[in-house]
Parts: sequence; structure tokens; C-alpha cells
Amino acid sequence: MVNPGDIERRREPLAPPIPLVIDCDPGIDDAVAIALAVASPEVDLLGLTTVAGNVSLARSTSNARALLDSFGRPDVPVVPGAERGLVRAKAPHADVHGPTGLGNGRLPMGEPVAAGEHAVQFLARVLAAAPPRSVTIAAIAPLTNLALLVALHPELLDRIRHLVVMGTSSGPGNMTPHAEYNTWADPEAAQRVLGEPAIPVCVVELQTTRHTTLTPRQLDELRGGSARGALLASMIDGYVDQGRGARPLHDVLVTAAIVAPDVIQTRPASVEIDTSTSEQRGRSTFGPERDAPAPLRVSTDLDLERFRRLTLDRVAAA
Ligand code: BDR
Ligand code: CA
Repeated sequence: MVNPGDIERRREPLAPPIPLVIDCDPGIDDAVAIALAVASPEVDLLGLTTVAGNVSLARSTSNARALLDSFGRPDVPVVPGAERGLVRAKAPHADVHGPTGLGNGRLPMGEPVAAGEHAVQFLARVLAAAPPRSVTIAAIAPLTNLALLVALHPELLDRIRHLVVMGTSSGPGNMTPHAEYNTWADPEAAQRVLGEPAIPVCVVELQTTRHTTLTPRQLDELRGGSARGALLASMIDGYVDQGRGARPLHDVLVTAAIVAPDVIQTRPASVEIDTSTSEQRGRSTFGPERDAPAPLRVSTDLDLERFRRLTLDRVAAA
């Protein structure tokens, strides 16, 4: 028998998709994070902005274009941003992602991205046209573009609903003993963005994301699920293990947390980034929540099985 309450619930309109821009440096895990966004009806992907990080700006831009084209989304714009750090040049992460940035993945080159608008101008244009607290930004690369946005357009920061960042570490680093790669690659930018009180920020940090592996059986499931799954699995195969045998998909947890917020747990916090030139450069030190308004949260845990299922069900099936 049908309960009238059920009928009322069925009539409830679905929540409109969340407008999303991904700032990225593809990057193997970036590629899977973008694939999850493309496969998720909860988000409306407005564009990818690119930055130098895992690979050069030119390579991260061409990788981003080629990925979207191969995922059947040539309509989504790719807009290049900063080609070096705010204060110091970045070093690439080729020892992790391979020389092309996409491991063993082989993609036809996408359409060349025309020079013109800068990533920060694109973000400003998107935000200027949006209502307050409506646009979510996923930042899965060094925070240079976001720091420039904060500096140039403080009047638009109230349009950001959430900024979800892969960066920092509450423990050891993966670039140096002290620093996570994205934070290490532009610590001055990270300090500026993560200390900005006008943006609700969620930081998905390394001690949470280092668990985001797939089992060998799940990798086979990805490989056999679809052409897209096979492509992504070949990228993951080319992940350089750094001797630890693990292939975490750090950036995918950012997309997953936007699509399904309960996949991570968070706590309020503040964070300071070491911007010295000492061996501590890029180290993140978390403290208690600052006085309001300090809307920063940091991840404390993840639901690993939910993360794995969400990723595989969406990405392998597409
Ligand atoms: C971060 O660094 C890059 O290698 C990954 O793409 C991820 O964004 C992990 O520390
Ligand atoms: Ca990345």
C-alpha cells in the first residue's frame, strides 16, 4: 500500500546541480577527479582552470582539454592560469605522475586551447554572474590561481559557496618529510587562501587522502567497466609508487566530498603554512578554530568503502 507521505516525498523537486569549477594540474588523480565530476548529476561543471603543478602549465592545460574531450565534454571550457608560483618557481611532480602527467594513459591531443582569458578572469566572470554563495570551487593543485583571485577580486568572494581544497598535511608530507605537494609548490598562495575569512573552505588533507586507494580487484573492475574506466586504469598503472606501493587518488576525494558530503568527516580549524626557505617550507600547522568568521574545516576521516563504491560506480560505468 502506498503511504501518502511517500507520494509527497516523490513530488519534492530534486536539488539543482551545484555549479562547479575545478582548478587543476592533471595529473593522474586530477584526471579521475574530473571524470567523477563529469559522471555526477549533482554538479554542473562550468569549467576547468589550470595551473602549473604536477606538470607545466602548457601540459596541464592540454591534458585537461584532452581529458574533457575524451569524456564527451568538449563544451566545457579549459582556461589556463599561472605558470609559476607567486613568489618562487614550482618544481613539477613528474616523479609521481610520469613525464606526461597522465601515467600510462594515452590520449589524442585535444583541440589547442586558445590564448586569451586568464583563469582568474574566467573565475571572476563566473562569480560576477552568480548569486551569493552559489559556486563551488574544487582546488586540486597548487593554490596560485586562487590566491590571485583573492587578491584581485575580494568583492566576489561572497559568491563562493564552498572552496574544497586538496592540500596540507596533519602529519608527514609526500613531497618533503614535512610538506604535502600542492602546499609545498606554492606555500605563499596557500597561506593567503587558507587564511581568507571570506571563503568557506574545506581542506581535504594528506593524512585523509592517503587512504584513497583502490584494491587490485577494484582496479580490474575499473579497467573492465568501460573505455573510460580502462583509460583511467592505465593512467593509475603508470603512477610511480615512490617505493611505498600505494597509489592514492588524493584529488578524487575532493570531488567525492562535493558530490556526497558525508564521505568525509571534518572539524573546524585554523592553519598556518610555513613560507620560509628552510626545510620546513610548505609545512602546515593546524590550530584551533579562529574567532568567527573563520569558516575553515579540515578533514579528519573518510568513509573509504563509500568513496570507493561512489568512484567505481560512477567512473567505471560511464
Ligand atoms: C597532490 O599532489 C599532486 O601530485 C596530486 O595531483 C594531488 O593534487 C597530492 O599531494
Ligand atoms: Ca592535482
